[in-house]
Amino acid sequence: MNRILLVCCAAAFFMKGAHAQEETPAYLDESRPLEVRIADALSRMTVEEKVRLSYAQGKFSSPGCPRLGIPELWYSDGPHGVRAEINWNDWGYAGWTSDSCTAFPALTCLAATWNTELSARYGKALGEEAVYRGKDVQLGPGVNIYRTPLNGRNFEYMGEDPYLAGEMCVPYIQELQKNGVAACVKHYALNNQELWRGHIDVELSDRALYEIYLPAFKAAVERGGAWSVMGAYNKVRGTHAAHNKLLNNEILKGEWGFDGCVVTDWGAAHDTYEAAMYGLDLEMGSYTNGLTSESEFGYDDYYLGKAYLKMIKDGKIPMEVVDDKAARVLRLIFRTSMNRSKPFGSLCTEAHYQAAYDVAVEGTVLLKNGNGKKQKGLLPVRPGAYRRILVVGDNATRNLMLGGGSSELKVKDFISPLEGLRKEFGEVEYAQGYAAGRPMYGQVDVVPQELTDSLRLDAVEKAADADLVIYIGGLNKNHLQDCEAGDRISYNLPFGQDELIRSLLEVNKNMVVVLLSGNAVAMPWLDDVPSVVQTWYLGTITGKALADVLSGDANPSGKLPFTYPVKLEDCPAHHFDALCYPGDSIREVYKEDILVGYRWYDTKGVKPLFPFGYGLSYTSFEYGKARLSSDKMSASGRIELSCTVKNTGSAAGKETVQLYVGDEKCSVLRPVKELKAFRKIRLEPGEEKTVTFAVTPDMLKFFDDKKHEWSAEPGKFKLYVGASSADIRSEAEFVYRP
Ligand code: BGC
Repeated sequence: MNRILLVCCAAAFFMKGAHAQEETPAYLDESRPLEVRIADALSRMTVEEKVRLSYAQGKFSSPGCPRLGIPELWYSDGPHGVRAEINWNDWGYAGWTSDSCTAFPALTCLAATWNTELSARYGKALGEEAVYRGKDVQLGPGVNIYRTPLNGRNFEYMGEDPYLAGEMCVPYIQELQKNGVAACVKHYALNNQELWRGHIDVELSDRALYEIYLPAFKAAVERGGAWSVMGAYNKVRGTHAAHNKLLNNEILKGEWGFDGCVVTDWGAAHDTYEAAMYGLDLEMGSYTNGLTSESEFGYDDYYLGKAYLKMIKDGKIPMEVVDDKAARVLRLIFRTSMNRSKPFGSLCTEAHYQAAYDVAVEGTVLLKNGNGKKQKGLLPVRPGAYRRILVVGDNATRNLMLGGGSSELKVKDFISPLEGLRKEFGEVEYAQGYAAGRPMYGQVDVVPQELTDSLRLDAVEKAADADLVIYIGGLNKNHLQDCEAGDRISYNLPFGQDELIRSLLEVNKNMVVVLLSGNAVAMPWLDDVPSVVQTWYLGTITGKALADVLSGDANPSGKLPFTYPVKLEDCPAHHFDALCYPGDSIREVYKEDILVGYRWYDTKGVKPLFPFGYGLSYTSFEYGKARLSSDKMSASGRIELSCTVKNTGSAAGKETVQLYVGDEKCSVLRPVKELKAFRKIRLEPGEEKTVTFAVTPDMLKFFDDKKHEWSAEPGKFKLYVGASSADIRSEAEFVYRP
């Protein structure tokens, strides 16, 4: 009897087990291929459920499919830290006490490191913070090309060169995503200014599109493997970028084979049919606070909400389109929020601070240190070398993580420049020098003239008594500075800083100027200031990194990721009429075409204030002669270029060796030269290394808009090895015979 019972129980148990196994749906089985799981999930979903995947349920969240246990997505800005929590239905901060983070240096700084290993550490650390904070999609990196120094969001991007931006964003994305957090590469595409960003219609040639503005996005997708891309606010050739057939269907999903999700910028969708048909997968942030009286639940009023469902039911949208969209959102969910094996993450660790510090130091650019003639450089400032050090400038104490728009961060720790310098140099006096007001979104906090005058007077009086003045100014994250939703209105430093610097110089010539910004600025006082340092928004560890650079504890090795024009009109986007920048409020025509950044200055013979790729060091580097493995290249072949670099100074340091390629003669306009490779190396004093670059036919190509393909014409090509785009140390040439 007992035996029979036992057998029955065992049979029941096994049957139950087998049944349960049969019942485990494929979409929940992580051992099954992703595409099988997606197809299975889709086969179980109603059309309403598929549609519901495609639009927000809160300011920073979009739903999964609750009936099937498919979780929602949580998003966060981006791109240099995990933003504090925002309210469910409005833009206010939620006021949590557990949502602070590490602020990593802004992306201009990362680009200025020219160090792809640092980019990987950056992405890894950021990904760990994002997953720890429960985020599935991290809104960044930004890879829009730096077209004008007035663009309010350049600080979130990686400079003017498509190759540099592409190389630097790939490791960031790869490492970030190893945490089960998607990168959302933004702002795709041609969001190169903030003024009129919601509607300005960009017109440009195919060559400019393919050669300048798209390569970094392509690298992010093809090599970085980005899981999502953010469709920009602006229009491109007549249609909003977020639902643009050319950008989304033909290029991103067609030519590049992107299998991820196109997410709108917040509120960037404008039309249901276009959104449905032209490649938008997920709509976020459209104008509704979720509490509007027009509907029971405001989010359903999104373009991809009720209206989309109706169009599907009316037979206006093919089911393949609906399934493809839903599949893309599911892919994003499966890769992130539904990924059960993702790590737990961590927040504000020593390793994160160290990564941030290394990026800050390696991205800081020494612009000037003496003039090689009578004027002697003042850096590094050895502790004890000066009795009375005066620090002047609002940026010495300002929390520059506040303001700037969506990239604003709430930091757990922050070392201000002044704190850092006091730690390094002991007693240091401070004068604010100028007042910049508070960062207010969309408006300027006006500073009374009396305050400006009295601050200047105080600083000048103190400077007269100082042995050394360290000026810490630049831009900030206020409206019309380095800030979203507006462009700068002047290329000069704001808040009367040029005048202030002049007044200080009148009483004390021993001055180091340190600029914190995400953009180039005019420097009318440059000749009279012995030492100038360009640094960026450095985040949590600002003061420590800055003090170490100024004191020589760390040797800066940043190289500029964009050109500094002497004056605004020298910049290609400003060389033409207003239609070229900022446009006529409706259209904008990129008349400089492919000659963006150094490509323009080189080709047109315009001398910049500081060229692309430029940056000094506390040591010096001597380059040997570039040697080629062959002076001929075939279509399938590749040749090697090698060059020695020696540290000829007395400090250890890092140098970025840059390789540019130029086509001697071509049937179409080509820039004098274009960056095609770079390598950052570390050298002890006296040490020499050989840097070798592979030169391939791909590096010789331009985008042939007639054939719609990349091509190189036979003939002579030049290779330039340089310490910057304007400081070419050695040249070599070869003949290309495909
Ligand atoms: C910005 C995006 C940002 C989004 C969400 C938009 O205003 O353009 O970059 O990710 O807001 O905050």
